[in-house]
Amino acid sequence: MSNEQQVHYYYPPEELVKNAAVSGMDAYHALCKEAEDDYEGFWGRRAKALLDWKEPFTQVLDESNAPFFKWFADGKLNVSYNCLDRNVNKGLGDKVALIFEADNGEVTRVSYKDLLARVNRFANALRGMGVKKGDRVVIYLPMSIEGVVAMQACARIGATHSIVFGGFSSQALRDRIEDAAAVALITSDGQHRGGKALPLKPIADEALTLGGCDTIKNVIVVKRTGVDCNMVAGRDTWFHDACADQSDVCEPEWVEAEHPLFILYTSGSTGKPKGVQHSSGGYLLQAMMSMQFSFDIKPSDVFWCTADIGWVTGHTFIAYGPLACGATEIVFEGVPTYPDGGRFWRMIQDHKVTVFYTAPTAIRSLIKTADNNPSVHPRQYDLSSLRLLGSVGEPINPAAWEWYYEHIGGGRCPIVDTFWQTETGAHVITPMPGATPMVPGSCTLPFPGIQAAVVDETGTEVPWGQGGILVIKRPWPAMIRTIWNDPERFKKSYFPDDFQGKLYLAGDGAIRDVDTGYFTITGRIDDVLNVSGHRMGTMEIESALVAHEKVAEAAVVGRPDDLTGEAIVAFVVLKGPRPTGDEAAAIIKELQNWVGREIGPIAKPKDIRFGENLPKTRSGKIMRRLLRQLAKGDDVIQDISTLENPQILEQLKG
Ligand code: PRX
Repeated sequence: MSNEQQVHYYYPPEELVKNAAVSGMDAYHALCKEAEDDYEGFWGRRAKALLDWKEPFTQVLDESNAPFFKWFADGKLNVSYNCLDRNVNKGLGDKVALIFEADNGEVTRVSYKDLLARVNRFANALRGMGVKKGDRVVIYLPMSIEGVVAMQACARIGATHSIVFGGFSSQALRDRIEDAAAVALITSDGQHRGGKALPLKPIADEALTLGGCDTIKNVIVVKRTGVDCNMVAGRDTWFHDACADQSDVCEPEWVEAEHPLFILYTSGSTGKPKGVQHSSGGYLLQAMMSMQFSFDIKPSDVFWCTADIGWVTGHTFIAYGPLACGATEIVFEGVPTYPDGGRFWRMIQDHKVTVFYTAPTAIRSLIKTADNNPSVHPRQYDLSSLRLLGSVGEPINPAAWEWYYEHIGGGRCPIVDTFWQTETGAHVITPMPGATPMVPGSCTLPFPGIQAAVVDETGTEVPWGQGGILVIKRPWPAMIRTIWNDPERFKKSYFPDDFQGKLYLAGDGAIRDVDTGYFTITGRIDDVLNVSGHRMGTMEIESALVAHEKVAEAAVVGRPDDLTGEAIVAFVVLKGPRPTGDEAAAIIKELQNWVGREIGPIAKPKDIRFGENLPKTRSGKIMRRLLRQLAKGDDVIQDISTLENPQILEQLKG
């Protein structure tokens, strides 16, 4: 991007610029300057204007116990009140809050008034079971109206929810329940996906028998597929029974701004997944600001974020942000390829979606589908309602960006390539759709108020054009507060001593364009993989592999993949002799299924290779960089003079 002549900039259409929340680059720079000149004022003014407070805050930012920052700490509010009651009070009661489209195409519309009543009934039910402020509630649900209702109901009574993605295994669910010491589990009998009804309750039941889940007193089960399911007397209740006689009114629990709204487990480079703890006030503020600045949300918009509520994107851009802004949103159960590869485009057409937010992996796979099957090519659908597109979760390659721009956006919709993380809570680097000239593959510039930078190992900013480590220099309202149960790990992971504990370490590498300062994310710098936009720790997969009785040792690395961004490659040493031929193929299947059961299908290695050993240095350290080269099929060009066992490399080639 160093030479302007070679860079193709895409400009937002004038009509959009005219009416945008951030209209033109001068407006963007003015916001950044406002934050630079008066950091606390910038956030404080917006927290006052955008949120309804039961008790106003007097202090914006408390840095006295850094890096455990506090925002708006003496203010009190309720997140569910801010998402629902105040919209109803503003006269939006009959406005459609969410349009749920099920796997089989069935559509349910829920108004703000109706959503509030559903949330209140379930909140009362939870209270009736003794769930109270500060208790943790684990939600293991497919995409559903009840998923959103459950999250909002927890927020209403001040319970801290922790969603576990419906594709995770019983073991993963158990680990999260135990770590959070949850008092209740909300799940469903099953889930619909691609025309199939899959069981969920049996997995939840199994998790509860694995030990460590004694804190769970109640299991609430949503009837979704209608399959028979085992209900344990005294512990399990149907969701509809629990809500049946409850009042539509439920006084919100007014909580401190710092009260933990949710914990969401995500993968790190070492050990078990970490419970990222988020706040109430600061989190909701930036969820709303992202909706306003990055998505330019307007009352007439129909917003569709295709993420699952199991990931942070589904928290900020399904459960909270759109509702807090009084928008109409789509909640989708199913897969983009069922009943055919035109599902997304048909839904955009049918529901007149105006803002569409999805992941590069979905785009890449739908490009392939459209190429192979012209009858589901986006040109077959009327996508003229769209005015803005978004991308999230992984770097978007320019070819996918351009296809998205041309074929979905009709060449008239800006694409906001939003960089953020579970830990950041909201967008941190992204174009402003009515301002920023876009360059495919670059997430462009920091969200107003976010002080992102690229530094070297000592924390010194590197010149533009030079790659380095992505950091954020000042705390921001929606940031992670701590790792649940592990404040030390929080400090070590995000505010390392290398940077004197002063910089937030994102875990990604980045480079800034020499002319524009635009950021391009160059990928994770730790042992975290990004497969189809899902974060996976290599250590987690290795631990799952070595838990198998046949496995002596395993090392997992990522390899670039055209479709999924990265693919998981595992190098395995068995306890017995190195298998070959059919025997190897059978064990590969067995290990893939094993990892699927231990963690979830998304963690299954795509490629498993067997060696009599792993390439190690004389001191016994596994040479991972070498494994990465082998995984890619590259020639090993690295110096292998420190390698103890060079003969092993031949065995590990693909
Ligand atoms: O590596 C970055 C990548 O996804 C990681 C965060 O993953 P997670 O916490 O699961 O949250 C995903 C959804 C917010 C980041 O560290 N990532 C996310 N968005 C982008 C991205 N990489 C490049 N470009 C993006 N827009």
